[in-house]
Amino acid sequence: MDSNRANEELILAFLLEGGDGFVSGAALSDKLGLSRTAVWKHVEGLRDVGYAIEAQASKGYRLLRVPDRLTALELAPLLTTRELGQQIHSFESIDSTNQAAFALALEGASAGTVVLAETQTAGRGRRGRSWVSPPQKNLAMSCILRPDIGAEHVAELTLVTAVAVAEALESCQVAAKIKWPNDLLVGGKKICGILTELSADTERVHFVVIGIGVNLNSTLDDFPDELGGRVTSVLLERKETVPRALFVAALLAQLELWTDKWADEGFAGVAPAWRARSMTLGKTVTVMSERSEWTGIAQDIDATGALLVRRGDTVERVVSGDVEVLAR
Ligand code: BTN
Repeated sequence: MDSNRANEELILAFLLEGGDGFVSGAALSDKLGLSRTAVWKHVEGLRDVGYAIEAQASKGYRLLRVPDRLTALELAPLLTTRELGQQIHSFESIDSTNQAAFALALEGASAGTVVLAETQTAGRGRRGRSWVSPPQKNLAMSCILRPDIGAEHVAELTLVTAVAVAEALESCQVAAKIKWPNDLLVGGKKICGILTELSADTERVHFVVIGIGVNLNSTLDDFPDELGGRVTSVLLERKETVPRALFVAALLAQLELWTDKWADEGFAGVAPAWRARSMTLGKTVTVMSERSEWTGIAQDIDATGALLVRRGDTVERVVSGDVEVLAR
């Protein structure tokens, strides 16, 4: 981390600690070992990126407003995690956070590294689809994990992540349901998509990138017309904007909690929470894969997160593909 950013982070931490009160310039320069002028320059640096900081000659500095940005500066003071988000790479605009995270992981980035972007120019969805990220509105985030597992267990992580996102949305009073394997919907409209990618050999996984796109503060105007009616956001559901940094902190906390549980207990430890939020189980579904399309009744998920679908007299194990939920 460069020393400017480190000092800005420290000043911010002291101002946050000061709450509604003023923190004296003398106290800041003592604590940081900097001159009063250097402190003032860092305060200006924070103002430049959108922090509103009041300055009074006799009293010092007071934090009035934190900008709605997703960088380490805003996130670090909010994080409660042990590993997730300890390294943060944030971009104004990037092709895809999954692509960037993949490249970082290949270069050796540590487990828990998080990549965030305000917008993506080539956001990726599952099965070759694209993902729309209107600038400064939503969440486009990818997390690097290095679990000690075989590739056959990676699909479980998508379901584990879906539970964490559902809980983070619940903390915003949005009740989302999980459509197997990776969509979160509210009233049938998509609010989140998850794209899990991996690097592995025949024996073990080298790393996993979990890409999470959540529609937070977008309105319908932010999406292309063809998505109209099929997407929603927290703002559209709640009529209130979400402080995005708080959402990220809540999501990373839940993601760490559930991935820890999964590492300790296996998918069996997460499956009940997934089932409780599923909109797929018990429904008639059409299973669409590259080669076929057929209809059955979704009965359960198995120990690896595969969907078990009754088709006539047999139960088929669906491990990939799209599932359209029809009526019960
Ligand atoms: C889907 O619903 O098909 C999955 C969408 C996943 C989108 C997220 S946004 C952050 C990350 N970067 C990407 O390019 N894709 C994922």
